[in-house]
Amino acid sequence: MRTRVIRIDPEEIDISALSEAAKVIREGGLVAFPTETVYGLGADAFNSFAVSKIFQVKGRPPDNPLIVHVGDFEDLYKIAKEIPPIALKIGERMWPGPLTLILRKSDVVPPTVTAGLETVAVRFPAHPVALKLIHLSGTPIAAPSANLSGKPSPTAAEHVIADLMDKVDIIIDSGETIFGVESTIINVVSSPPTLLRPGPVEVEKIREIIGEISIPSFARGLEEAGHALAPGMRYRHYSPNVPLILVEQEEYSNLHPLVERVKKIAKELISSGQRTVIIATDETRKHYTGLNVISLGSRKNLYEVAHRLFATLRSLDNTNADVVIAEGFPEQGLGLAIMNRLRKASSSKISHR
Ligand code: TXA
Ligand code: MG
Repeated sequence: MRTRVIRIDPEEIDISALSEAAKVIREGGLVAFPTETVYGLGADAFNSFAVSKIFQVKGRPPDNPLIVHVGDFEDLYKIAKEIPPIALKIGERMWPGPLTLILRKSDVVPPTVTAGLETVAVRFPAHPVALKLIHLSGTPIAAPSANLSGKPSPTAAEHVIADLMDKVDIIIDSGETIFGVESTIINVVSSPPTLLRPGPVEVEKIREIIGEISIPSFARGLEEAGHALAPGMRYRHYSPNVPLILVEQEEYSNLHPLVERVKKIAKELISSGQRTVIIATDETRKHYTGLNVISLGSRKNLYEVAHRLFATLRSLDNTNADVVIAEGFPEQGLGLAIMNRLRKASSSKISHR
């Protein structure tokens, strides 16, 4: 198959070009498209055969369900049933946006999408190209992140091209995504609601809206989830090919011990002949003189850190590094999402408590 890459400026959408992508969706093809979080690989959510191709192309285990992307609340009522008031409360405040809710599925959603579950993940994205694509397609779009299974999610079209060129019909290139980490996922079927994956919609904000929300340790990336709770959360994720060592600290007001720990590990690795890269921050990078350092940005701007995280993880595979050491972050606000991704990407964690 030959993939067509079409460039669409999100600020001035070329409707006739995007209509071609919508036609491909309607005809059962696959289209990679931008969202405000990461790029998605989309198919008509009501076309079971098209959806099954997503699993094939990504090498995704068939028991890992997909998110259905809707373009309005009407679509939401089509694919979900028994929508609890709490879900509407969150949805009305946060949609369109980087938030996914787990709801009871209606009969029109094929089991291929939900991996046979009675629930469905629903997201109403805010990215203008994603929204327009859904509207022009006239159908909700089932889409996981547009990466090969196990790789970091794509935050730019080049990442999608690297993973999926000539495996899908169209790749839409709209430049870099905005947030860079995947949507916050909340299961609102459980009581109290449960955070399944932290993302750009901060759990503190959800708590303001609904009060109680439970944060299981797998949502912090600390352990694998059981299948019943969060089917896809037990798969290894986001992993660069290079092993990543994550260095954590109880709290981060004093970064000195963290830096010293990273330096010590780096020196040991280097003396054993391993080419070592440190993923640091603007605040700490100056302390690693003579070492190979990449900064994710300032600790004061976690949006920047999240935005760069996956691209940085991907870039490691194009260096000759043997091992990577990354600094941890406090688990507040967006820090929870960043730490979830770093822990899942890491092959070993070193806590300094
Ligand atoms: O930001 C995002 O959410 C991106 C963009 C493209 O929308 N999508 C994304 O999809 O990250 P994916 O497939 O990479 O991650 C979706 C996660 C998976 O871990 C999956 O197991 C979980 O959502 N999921 C989907 N349906 C579920 C359900 N019914 N119950 C529990 N978890 C579910
Ligand atoms: Mg994914």
